[in-house]
Amino acid sequence: MDFNEIISLKEQGKKLNSKQINFMIDGFVNGGINKEAMGRFLVAIYQNSLCKKESYYFCDSMIAQSKNLDLSCLENTVDKHSTGGVSDSTSLIVVPLFALLGYTCLKMSGGALAHTGGTADKIKVFKNLKNELSFSQAIEIAKKCGGCFVTQSEELAIADKKIYALRNEIDAVMSIPLIATSIMSKKIACGAQNIVLDIKFGNGALLKTKQEAKKLGRLMKYLGECYGKNVSLIYGDMNQPLGKYVGDFMEVLEVIQTLKKAEKSPLLMHSIEIVAKVACKHNEKHQFKKHCYELVKNGKVLDKLKEIILMQGGDESLFSFNYDIWHEAIFAKNEGILTNIDCEGLGNFDHKMKSVDGYLGFKILKRLGERIEFNEPVFEVYFEKETEIFEVGENLLACLEVE
Ligand code: URA
Repeated sequence: MDFNEIISLKEQGKKLNSKQINFMIDGFVNGGINKEAMGRFLVAIYQNSLCKKESYYFCDSMIAQSKNLDLSCLENTVDKHSTGGVSDSTSLIVVPLFALLGYTCLKMSGGALAHTGGTADKIKVFKNLKNELSFSQAIEIAKKCGGCFVTQSEELAIADKKIYALRNEIDAVMSIPLIATSIMSKKIACGAQNIVLDIKFGNGALLKTKQEAKKLGRLMKYLGECYGKNVSLIYGDMNQPLGKYVGDFMEVLEVIQTLKKAEKSPLLMHSIEIVAKVACKHNEKHQFKKHCYELVKNGKVLDKLKEIILMQGGDESLFSFNYDIWHEAIFAKNEGILTNIDCEGLGNFDHKMKSVDGYLGFKILKRLGERIEFNEPVFEVYFEKETEIFEVGENLLACLEVE
């Protein structure tokens, strides 16, 4: 087979068969096809797309290169994946909640991607926590407490790792079949029987419209079903941060506070919705969500989260943390209704600030549609100790449109 011929077929918008797609992926992972040729192939897909069948061949070839997990020794396995958001810490609520409901949730996560956050970074806020676990260690913990947070290992989804890095380099990220195959090759490799996909849309998400998000959702569901998985979809609006805090440390504290106060915030309610998508029948949704909320209210979800963190060697002091953290308020320079939030801009700001010594995150005090008065605090920026902050306010205020 000649890779130039395969690339040129895709450049002409022709459909490829499984052998041709496998030849490209196998060659790229194992050294027969170089970055330049694979880059051309990915750009051809980016421009001309893949049909459902080709997407399946692509996903299947990626899975064939991965060392996959066998979770057959665990009961009722479930996995959750978000396509990426800002202040999206639902995994820290969803994993213990699933565990309490009799599921086993081995949550394999990556770090931050572009302007979005990643569970692997957030979980590291618990000092000493070990999440670079071997498959057998992760399975052991999940067996004992129903949940476990693990970082993606080198061998798992190796094809995705290499292809994703190249897509980032050549700016070929925003392609529905490439996103779908990237996510689903990982999810299938992780081995859970039930998969819930939290697909974000809006200016803080990879896909900007709900229509595109739905197209991605349908393709991911199809791919999962090709492997006999039960795939549930939920769509999340990312035109504003899901929680009130942005930044790994502050987001983890927000989760603990939300669980302690059983605050019916968008963060908590969306987390419950995610679990409901998998664990309850349509006509019992109201009762089921009430039951989940009760589990939060009586402290069971917080206790379960703590149990998992401790089992992974994490420090428990954050569960009794005193919230008196140094912060500076940023005041509004205009008054009116908050009509737009540049959520991607807020995510990028947080990523940039991560390299600033002592930075912990920031809080956004207003949600879309709320009124802002002149000189009213709209953000709070948090640091470990008193810090002089320059231009921070300007950068954050530039993300708000007030009319
Ligand atoms: N998340 C992934 O894992 N892959 C993508 O391509 C996009 C989001």
